[in-house]
Amino acid sequence: MFYYIIKMVKNMNIIDIIEKKKKSDELSYEELQYVVMGYVEGKIPDYQMSALLMAITLKGMSKIEIFNLTDIMIQSGETLDLSGIEGYKVDKHSTGGVGDKTTLAVLPIVASCGVKCAKMSGKGLGFTGGTIDKLESIPGFQTNLEFDQFIDQVNSIGLALMSQTGNLCPADKKIYALRDVTGTTDSIPLIASSIMSKKIASGADKIIIDLKVGRGAFMKTLESARRLARTMIEIGQRYDRDVICLVTNMSQPLGSMVGNQLEVEEAYQLLKNEPVRRDFKEVVMTIATYMVHLGKNISLRDAKKEVETVLKEGKALEKFHQFIEAQHGKLEFDDLPGREIVAPKSGYVTRVEPAKIGELVKELGGGREKTTDQIDYRVGIKLHKKVGEKVKEGEVLLTVYENQKKLEDREYLDCFTIEKHSCIGERLIYGTVGEMI
Ligand code: URA
Repeated sequence: MFYYIIKMVKNMNIIDIIEKKKKSDELSYEELQYVVMGYVEGKIPDYQMSALLMAITLKGMSKIEIFNLTDIMIQSGETLDLSGIEGYKVDKHSTGGVGDKTTLAVLPIVASCGVKCAKMSGKGLGFTGGTIDKLESIPGFQTNLEFDQFIDQVNSIGLALMSQTGNLCPADKKIYALRDVTGTTDSIPLIASSIMSKKIASGADKIIIDLKVGRGAFMKTLESARRLARTMIEIGQRYDRDVICLVTNMSQPLGSMVGNQLEVEEAYQLLKNEPVRRDFKEVVMTIATYMVHLGKNISLRDAKKEVETVLKEGKALEKFHQFIEAQHGKLEFDDLPGREIVAPKSGYVTRVEPAKIGELVKELGGGREKTTDQIDYRVGIKLHKKVGEKVKEGEVLLTVYENQKKLEDREYLDCFTIEKHSCIGERLIYGTVGEMI
C-alpha cells in the first residue's frame, strides 16, 4: 500500500492536475495533498499554485474535494487541544469587514455570561482589519501567549485571545497570502476550507460565524453567502462541531470608526454603555446572544436577557478590564488631531463605500499590503454620516486622523454618494443558517 502511494505521488504532475481542474474534473485526496504539501514545502512555485487556485475559483469544487482540502490543511500543522478548559467554550469568527471590531466587545460580554472564550486571531491583510492589530494598538498588550498561559487565563478569567501560532494550518497561511494577490479570494470552496480548517485546528467545538455580505465583503450576494454558510456548516458536521452562521450586512463600514485604535475606543464605549452607532451595537448583541445560546444550551430569549444584563450592570466592562490587564495592556489612548471633511452639497447619503474607506485607512498607514509592513495604530477615519442620513452642505461628513501621510479631501469624498432622495435602507442582519434548536 505504502509503495503504491509513493508510486502514485511520483507519477503526479502539477500541470496534469491544473489541466484536470480546468476541465472541472474532481481531484483526488492524493492529488490535493500532493499540491498543497508540495506548495508548503516550496516544491511547487507560486505561479503554478496560482493557476490551480484560479481554476478552482472558476470551476468550483465538489463537496468531497472541499472536505478533503480542509482535512489536508488541518493536517499540515498542529491542532490545539482545548480540553484543559473547564466548562462551556464557544469560538467566534468573522469573514472580514471594514470597521468590524465586534470581537472586542462580544468576547467580554459572552465571558461575563459564563461562556469561556479561547480565541486565536490573525493580523489584517488588505483593506479589512485584524483583531490582533486592533488589540496591539493598546499600549503594552501582549498577543504572543504561550499555549499553557492561554489556557490558564481562560480558566481564571474566562477569556484569552492570542495571535495564531505559526504552525496552525501553515498550508492555509501560505495559500491565503497567495490568494490575496491573485484575485482568488472570492471562491466559496477556498474560503470555506480556509476558515473551517483554522477553526477546527484551533479546537473549538461550537462556532459562531459572522458571515458578512455586501460591497465590503467577500460575498457580494445573499445567495452566495448562504451557499458559503451551508458549506461551512457541512464541514463542521464532519468534525462534529456545531456551527451557526449569522449573515450580516457589510455594504457600509460597521459603526463609526475605522482604524485600529479608534475601533478599540468604539468597542470600549459600547462596553461602558456610552452611545454608539445602532448597527454596531445590534451586531454585537446578536452575536453575543447566539454564543451564549450555543455555549450554555439555553433559549435565545434567555441568552439575550443575560447578554443585556451583563452589559447594563457593567459586568462586561469589568471583564474587558480584567482581560486587558491580564495581557498587560493599558487603556491609555494617544489620539492624533482630527481633520474634518465637509459635505460638498446637501442631500441624503446613499452610499459609503466600505472597501474604499478600508483602502484609505490602509494608505494612511493603518493596514498592511505585505505581512511584514508596520502599522500606524492611531490613524483612521470617523464617519459622522452613514447611509440614509440627511446632510447639509458644509456639515461634517467624516474626521480623518492622519500622521505624516496626507491624502486629498477628494479621495475621502469619493467614498460617499449624496443624492437628492433617500434610498431604501438595507437589512442589517439577514438571519442565521445552521440554527439547531
Ligand atoms: N477569512 C479566512 O480566514 N479565509 C478566507 O478565505 C476568507 C476569510
